[in-house]
Amino acid sequence: MTLLEKIVALAKRRGFIFPGSEIYGGLGGTWDYGPLGVELKNNIKREFWRSMVYERGDVVGLDAAILMNPKVWEASGHVEAFADPLVECKICHERLRTDQIEEIQKHELTHKGKKPEWTEPRKFNLLVEAKLGVVEDKKDKIYLRGEITQGVHVNFKNVLDSTRVQIPFGIAQVGKAFRNEITPGNFTFRSREFEQMEMQFYVKPEKRESQKWYEFWKNERLMWYQSLGMTKSKLRFRQHEEGERAHYAKDAWDIEYDSPFGWKEFEGIHNRGDWDLLQHQKDSGVDMTYTDQENGKKFLPYIIETSGGVDRAALFFLIDAYYEEKGRVVLKLHPCLAPYKVAVFPLLANKIELVKKAKEVYMLLTSDYSLQPVAWDDRGNIGKRYFAQDEIGTPYCVTVDFKTLDDDTVTIRDRNTTKQERVKLSKLAEVLRNKLFN
Ligand code: GAP
Repeated sequence: MTLLEKIVALAKRRGFIFPGSEIYGGLGGTWDYGPLGVELKNNIKREFWRSMVYERGDVVGLDAAILMNPKVWEASGHVEAFADPLVECKICHERLRTDQIEEIQKHELTHKGKKPEWTEPRKFNLLVEAKLGVVEDKKDKIYLRGEITQGVHVNFKNVLDSTRVQIPFGIAQVGKAFRNEITPGNFTFRSREFEQMEMQFYVKPEKRESQKWYEFWKNERLMWYQSLGMTKSKLRFRQHEEGERAHYAKDAWDIEYDSPFGWKEFEGIHNRGDWDLLQHQKDSGVDMTYTDQENGKKFLPYIIETSGGVDRAALFFLIDAYYEEKGRVVLKLHPCLAPYKVAVFPLLANKIELVKKAKEVYMLLTSDYSLQPVAWDDRGNIGKRYFAQDEIGTPYCVTVDFKTLDDDTVTIRDRNTTKQERVKLSKLAEVLRNKLFN
């Protein structure tokens, strides 16, 4: 089994990620997050919000509608230019992206004995269309957002008018985006429905100023992944080449991860210049300029964007945390990302007094906000329970045994080292908080 196959199997078996609409044969490029997957994703999003909004004074949040007036997508250039170049196999008409060299080579092998031939690359628009309206023949064509970004830019004036922000400042947003990907694959890596975590930072339209912030945000975002435990040597930056950049970008650098399927992008840092505000100003007729508080000058700010994928981050955090050692599988997830912070067990499930005491411990820890959610397990033997918690990344397991009934102490077992220590119940929550978050 390859590492990716192991991750896919673990994700399904333990309730991280299931294929979308599975009982109906699935829907390509869609995935459902199970009880543990939703915790992991929520933790990633919460940490993003904490570092990008709460721990800064210059970034505010927003949650725009997914459905937008289609004029937004015409103005932003997505209707015209949001397209991947595809080639079509002349034998079976399957289409593949021109940059997927390996896929193309693999495909050619499926036509044994025939000479492979491909069409010239053609652009294929990625926007997903939908119909909105109640009268069947009068439904209006709309687009599901291809990036969450435009919801922020069309609200630039609203945020200015309703808050006290001044340039330089940012607007962060997290939410779903949709793309008609022709070749979804590599598990959740390329999906048709996915989540983005973004921040649009508005700066003075000066080269030096925008470059300064560009470098700042590149560094911040790389550090963020490292601060959550991603292996430094598996991360790198890659600058987009001429011709590779999206239609809106003046400059683009990807943060890439050394994945089982090669170095792959999972966050882009883009200098969008004044592209978005200028386009929306032109098409809506609304003045999108910012007035400098010091000299009264009006200008369209430049935008430095950080755009990460929540699903790709979740996948790479899982891959990065996966270890097989001494007969066990262990996810060494950062405590802030681990679906459960702690698990509580009674040593034996058939001893009423142990179960009763363990339930008390479980309730004690569950009532502590910072330790939520707490797992409970009383199946199988204690070794199997440790094994099961290791596999889902629970940093600490607390066991209630006969000694607990005598002296109110429990054992804490460390996921990474498997070492155990005894702790007084009265100190348990504090000890766990310190271990997890200090
Ligand atoms: N607003 C800029 C923007 O959307 P992008 O590079 O097209 O830029 C940003 O996308 C991030 O969104 C990517 O780095 C990736 O993490 C995520 N993403 C894009 N397409 C995706 C897909 N088909 N499946 C999963 N994640 C995707």
